[in-house]
Amino acid sequence: RYLNSLAQDNGKLWFGTAADIPGTAEQTDKEYLRILENPKNFGEITPANMMKFMYTEPEQNVFNFTGGDYILDLAEKHGMRVRCHNLVWSSQLSDWVTSGTWTAATLTAVMKNHIQTLITHWGDRCYSWDVINEALAGDGTFSSSIWYDTIGPEYFPLAFQFAQEAVEQTGKDIKLYYNDYGLESPGNKTTAAYNLVRELQSRHIKIDGVGLESHFEVGGTPSIADQVAAKKGFLDLGIDVAITELDVRFVAAPYYTAAGEATQAQNYYDSVASCMEVGRGCIGVTVWDFDDKYSWVPSAFVGQGGADIYNDTLQRKPAYYAIAEALTGA
Ligand code: G3I
Repeated sequence: RYLNSLAQDNGKLWFGTAADIPGTAEQTDKEYLRILENPKNFGEITPANMMKFMYTEPEQNVFNFTGGDYILDLAEKHGMRVRCHNLVWSSQLSDWVTSGTWTAATLTAVMKNHIQTLITHWGDRCYSWDVINEALAGDGTFSSSIWYDTIGPEYFPLAFQFAQEAVEQTGKDIKLYYNDYGLESPGNKTTAAYNLVRELQSRHIKIDGVGLESHFEVGGTPSIADQVAAKKGFLDLGIDVAITELDVRFVAAPYYTAAGEATQAQNYYDSVASCMEVGRGCIGVTVWDFDDKYSWVPSAFVGQGGADIYNDTLQRKPAYYAIAEALTGA
């Protein structure tokens, strides 16, 4: 039972993973790569870091495509698609951006050049782009970022407009996404995201989907009904949704008790089942990453971990089999 095979056969969706290569230990871990590079396991890869601003434009208007190319080459070799991630975010920016002195006009020019250069360069090797990442606070207002603080709320439609112009120039079908966490259930932030989509649509600016990151805590995931309701709200606007960064972390050790893993498995099941339940329109599930060995969680949250579907020796956990059940409607 291979998860991407099940996803393709039963739901016409993909099952994918983030991967933080090259330049990391994963790059030469044979067992890790054996799992990653099997298209029965994964039909999609998202680069965890290598397409972000600090790596792709380290100096102003000096671009580096090496890391992104590595992921794209690997994915293409194995017939996987790539969700390209991301163009405009508050984090992992180059020093010249964060320490620069900008006006709205000069920073808008920086944003436009970055967006259009990357979209143009990689073209439809990118299935989609996360044009804007994590723009909203929990109450539904815009979060502080150099983009918002300098340009104001117009930075949001402007970024999509610039992306749309670049996509139209390529003549290819490249999907444009807004990606954020906290959109997995109804609430102020989810409503604000619906309104952002409506605003773009009312101005005839292209937006094809919203990415629901789905970083959860064990025992703390929204109900299936809430996850279905939030997704339907986006689908009702005529766009796609994808689960883009699914993981379910333990907030404290131990991470590998039978009871804990059973709860975690149920939490994974609920999220994937909500995607299956809304049917066409929830077009993929991506985990961030697939294994506890290289998960981003322990370095970001002290004491937390065990978030993924393979353990720290790359063995499948109960969550893996729960996802298989969700994908087959069991
Ligand atoms: O670049 C340095 C490198 O020079 C150094 O050798 C290395 C030593 O640990 O650190 C490197 O930087 C790290 C970078 O990942 C690349 O590995 C940063 O310290 C680390 O903070 C950074 O973490 C990434 C994080 O975004 C940053 O916010 C994670 O790998 C990445 O998985 C994570 O991904 C985000 C999504 O983009 C958006 N949604 C949330 C998600 C999880 O935070």
